[in-house]
Amino acid sequence: MEGSSLLLAVVCLLGPLVQGSPSQCPSPCHCHGDLLHVICYNAGLKKIPQISEATRLLNLQENSLGNLPSGGFGEMKGLISLHLQHCKIQEIAGQAFKGLKKLVYLYLSNNEISVMRPGAFEDLTMLTYLYLDGNRISTLAKGIFSPMVNLFILQLNNNSIPELSVGVFSGAKDLRWLHLSDNKINSIQPGALDDVENLAILHLDRNKLSTYPTGSMSKLRVVEELTLSRNPMATIPDNAFRSFGRYMERLYLDNMGLQKFSDGAFSGVTALKSLHIQNNKVKNLPGSLDLSTITNLTLSGNPWSCTCQLASLRKWMDTSRLRPDAVCAAPSTQRGKQVRDSAAFSRCKGKTRRANKGLRH
Ligand SMILES: *[C@@H]1O[C@H](CO)[C@@H](O)[C@H](O)[C@H]1NC(C)=O
Ligand SMILES: *[C@@H]1O[C@H](CO)[C@@H](O)[C@H](O)[C@H]1NC(C)=O
Repeated sequence: MEGSSLLLAVVCLLGPLVQGSPSQCPSPCHCHGDLLHVICYNAGLKKIPQISEATRLLNLQENSLGNLPSGGFGEMKGLISLHLQHCKIQEIAGQAFKGLKKLVYLYLSNNEISVMRPGAFEDLTMLTYLYLDGNRISTLAKGIFSPMVNLFILQLNNNSIPELSVGVFSGAKDLRWLHLSDNKINSIQPGALDDVENLAILHLDRNKLSTYPTGSMSKLRVVEELTLSRNPMATIPDNAFRSFGRYMERLYLDNMGLQKFSDGAFSGVTALKSLHIQNNKVKNLPGSLDLSTITNLTLSGNPWSCTCQLASLRKWMDTSRLRPDAVCAAPSTQRGKQVRDSAAFSRCKGKTRRANKGLRH
């Protein structure tokens, strides 16, 4: 005990003298586990402190770091997790993370990043999780992510990206989750997603896509969750989801001003569990939609046309424990009635249980 408090006193005395020495905890920071974790949260830092090669986690959240220069983390070769949220970062220089060959987690959320120079992410070959949401990114240079051959999650929500062009994701061949919600994407060039054909989760909601990007989507093979909510898209074309139809479980198409599904829109879709199409202008569901696998369905806020074309929906409702809200807008005799209560389907051929019941017993 005495020895350790003596040591502590010596360290405190020497503290100012050895400040910046990689073998000591930087003065405004807290360190744990023999410098394994260095926490400099909201510590008034203006530049990146020097830390030990032994450090695994560096938390610099809420310091005004401004720009990230080349090689600014040069001596921190052991880092696995780097937290740089809320640091007012505007620009990432080329080779900003030089030497961080073990880094797995990089958090750059909620900065003011608008410029990422070519080579910004060089050396990050082990990086698996990259968070860039809540920034001002409007251009993604071709190949900017290419050093990150192990990237699994790329979080780019809430930026100003206007389009995805060919080569933007080149090299990131293991990418599984791609979050692009809340951007300004109005175009995804055919081929733009060719490099990330193993995407499982693709979030494109709250963008400006006015046509379904069939040419780029058709390269994807294993998408399980797709969100397109709040894009101003009037129609979903034939075969929209075909290339990943056996995998797609969750589809969000709400609040789009959607008017129509092509009849073959859901061709090849066989595993869908959750479908959300509320607050659109659709009147009918397409013949290609197989409702038998659905366990979560949202239909409200659409002007449903309660004719025999919708009989398969009614049949599904009669056998399902779910009671999704869906109100008929037409024909006039049915207006305002719930699809599940409407008498409009009683004469549809072999379609509803209630109609069949009468025939049985
Ligand atoms: C988007 O990012 C801006 C700027 O970083 C932030 O102020 C805003 O709260 C974020 N919005 C959402 C929905 O996260
Ligand atoms: C259905 O999906 C919505 C939207 O994702 C979700 O909020 C809700 O919890 C789900 N309901 C069930 C019963 O899983």
